[in-house]
Amino acid sequence: MKIVVKKGEITEFRTEAVIVPCFEGRRELQGKVKLLDKKSGGLIKQIIGAGDFTGKLFELSVRYTGGIIPAKRIVLVGVGKKADFTTEKLRGAFATAARCVRSLKLSEFSTSLDFIFLSKPLDEIARAVVEGVSLGLYQYTSFKTIDRDKIRAIKEFTIIEENEKAYNIIRAAAKEAEIISCAVCFARDMVSAPGNEMTPTDMAHEARKIAKRKNVKLKVLNETEMNKIGMSAFLGVARGSEEPAKFIVLEYWGGNKSDPPVALVGKGLTFDSGGISIKPSEKMDEMKSDMAGGVAVMGAIMAAADLSLKVNAVGLIPATENLPGGRAYKPGDILKSLSGQTIEVLSTDAEGRLILADALTYAGRFKPAAIIDLATLTGACVIALGDHVTGMMGTDDRLKHKIQDAANATDEKVWELPLWEDYHELIKSDVADYKNHGGRPGGAITAAAFLSKFVGNYPWVHLDIAGPAWLTRDKPYIPKGASGVGVRLMVQFLKDWQKRSKS
Ligand code: BES
Ligand code: MN
Ligand code: ZN
Repeated sequence: MKIVVKKGEITEFRTEAVIVPCFEGRRELQGKVKLLDKKSGGLIKQIIGAGDFTGKLFELSVRYTGGIIPAKRIVLVGVGKKADFTTEKLRGAFATAARCVRSLKLSEFSTSLDFIFLSKPLDEIARAVVEGVSLGLYQYTSFKTIDRDKIRAIKEFTIIEENEKAYNIIRAAAKEAEIISCAVCFARDMVSAPGNEMTPTDMAHEARKIAKRKNVKLKVLNETEMNKIGMSAFLGVARGSEEPAKFIVLEYWGGNKSDPPVALVGKGLTFDSGGISIKPSEKMDEMKSDMAGGVAVMGAIMAAADLSLKVNAVGLIPATENLPGGRAYKPGDILKSLSGQTIEVLSTDAEGRLILADALTYAGRFKPAAIIDLATLTGACVIALGDHVTGMMGTDDRLKHKIQDAANATDEKVWELPLWEDYHELIKSDVADYKNHGGRPGGAITAAAFLSKFVGNYPWVHLDIAGPAWLTRDKPYIPKGASGVGVRLMVQFLKDWQKRSKS
């Protein structure tokens, strides 16, 4: 879909549908909405007056203008009560309206931000509108071969603005939101792809495409190279699969060369069967999404490069399958990690922390200013927090605050869980340094406690995205399935990080 920002007058613009967001319980029309109403012969007043439309959140009403104005249809969409407004609701409202337009089989629609009366910065509104539309219209259709002509896709979305200054602000914000949404959809595509089509090798190929950008560098370690440096925790997990494991190192150098980078580490299980500690077969298919952390990192690096952010960021993605092959690692095995510390394997299904352990240690080679990892790490985190929110644990309060700020700005929610000393007791092993399973109680936290042993002294935060990475029902601007969670959060974090580099 093309996103266009045009200078002009919305009430005079020829379009299949014009989206008009409305607050609940506002009978008096204002500004541009009032003008549109007047020019269309009181159409909007009529709809509202008749009680057909009240402005309740995500309520829709489509009316034909009968040619009184150049726009063929007016699509009213509710944004809820003005007092309860959030940009998150605006994203949802525009996603809902855009899907309504698509179901009408139209190929194009438009809006004006002058319909929205808020004291929020215009760029923030513009970004929310573009994100809502682009993310809400996402559909994964690569493997549909029947009735492909029935798959509807919107070709163009136009924002009309008459004021020169506002036009410039909207254009820049829309471009930025388009780049970020594109990275989110890239992540959704990768996660949606089935395990047979998205192997570790395929992930490395995708990374290669990202590395075509300016200031981006790629290194992919193969199993021999990993073996040479001693990444045996990662390789232990990979042993059960015939697919060769890859360690993807994607570097973006957009800041001062002398500034230490931020290291983003992402779990890249292209399929997690559980290994010898095999998972129940019900819903095992969903474990094709176990590389959501890894692709969130790839998406963030991609967007950082496309936005030319003035930051340095390295993405580290251990990618493998976890399968119960004849040479697979087994419960009771002891693995020696890259850090030299030994790990007793109690469950081969607690594989994420093993591959991340070596990746976190490897991150130390960059002497990073901070390490953030994203991982679909534990079912326990889903039980604790549900699918709305990412679990956050870490060793550095300032870094946690920065991530919380980015979460507030993007509405990709995070919630902190404690990482107190008490939990560390639970991962001590009788025969090795640590065990990879701390029992069911506090499972999200003991997993984080385990990771903490491999980060060295760098400020570190762990984000458990097991809940929000894969949705079993639609959300306003996230169709069920892969959400692309973490991309917007990390891009916002890197945007904010730029300010720090300047000072
Ligand atoms: N990838 C899973 C975690 C997961 C579960 C993600 C459900 C998304 C939805 C992870 O590798 C895993 O299997 N974790 C185990 C850990 C346990 C064996 C200590 C779990 O959560 O059950
Ligand atoms: Mn597992
Ligand atoms: Zn897993």
